Amino acid sequence: MTAVKDNIMTVRILDSPEAAGAAGAAVVRDCVQDKPDAVLGFATGSSPLPLYNALAETGVDLSRVRGFALDEYVGLPPGDPRSYAAVIQSEVVQRLGLPQGAVQVPDAAAADLDAAARDYEQAIRDAGGVDLQILGIGHNGHVAFNEPGAALDSRTRVEQLAERTRRANARFFDSPDEVPTRCLTQGIGTILDAGHLLLIAHGADKAEIVARALQGPVSPDCPASALQLHPRVTVVLDRAAAAHLTGTRTPS
Ligand code: GLP
Repeated sequence: MTAVKDNIMTVRILDSPEAAGAAGAAVVRDCVQDKPDAVLGFATGSSPLPLYNALAETGVDLSRVRGFALDEYVGLPPGDPRSYAAVIQSEVVQRLGLPQGAVQVPDAAAADLDAAARDYEQAIRDAGGVDLQILGIGHNGHVAFNEPGAALDSRTRVEQLAERTRRANARFFDSPDEVPTRCLTQGIGTILDAGHLLLIAHGADKAEIVARALQGPVSPDCPASALQLHPRVTVVLDRAAAAHLTGTRTPS
């Protein structure tokens, strides 16, 4: 294992996506052992799946955990299996043994989406804030659905999906045209309010954006670069996703 560590960000580079997932699951386990009723932030997409797989294998008791999803598509019918509500239900709630209803997802079917966004912010505050936020990263540097150009202090809101994101997510739909054009997403400011951020990325296709996010300038051009502003960030990567980082060292 190779690692870079300083006072604000710990980067762990593992041999495989599975090992990165196990390292991420250990961070979640430590959080829940310290605080059994922790509030966790859950990401969707393919990045966190090795982490959820490893977490399922650890058998850690998540029965008192509550959580919040990062984002949701606008425009899918209720119960659509491609909705993030459905993915959270199968990959997180059922698989990891959380109580039914313990994970909230932005209400993208609401008649008033702006009100739903405000309500979501309030629900997170009412829960006492997110203790540990699990994050993936999009190829254009998006976190949740904060696309390039999003303000670094943005809050939960309606957003347009970038065409690149729609193309990337077309793999979950029958045709690219079916990918929704809008979403409700936590803002970057919302995400930065969490007590601890845990970013997981794997695969060579993420190497360039991971290096930009962690070692490039902090800028709305790369929303994930905002992680550099947070006082407590853990990043778990496989070697392929870490390939463009500079200055990594092997600890003694
Ligand atoms: C998706 C999600 C993000 C996710 C990102 C990367 O569209 N909205 O929360 O982190 O894009 O996706 P993936 O992990 O599948 O590469």
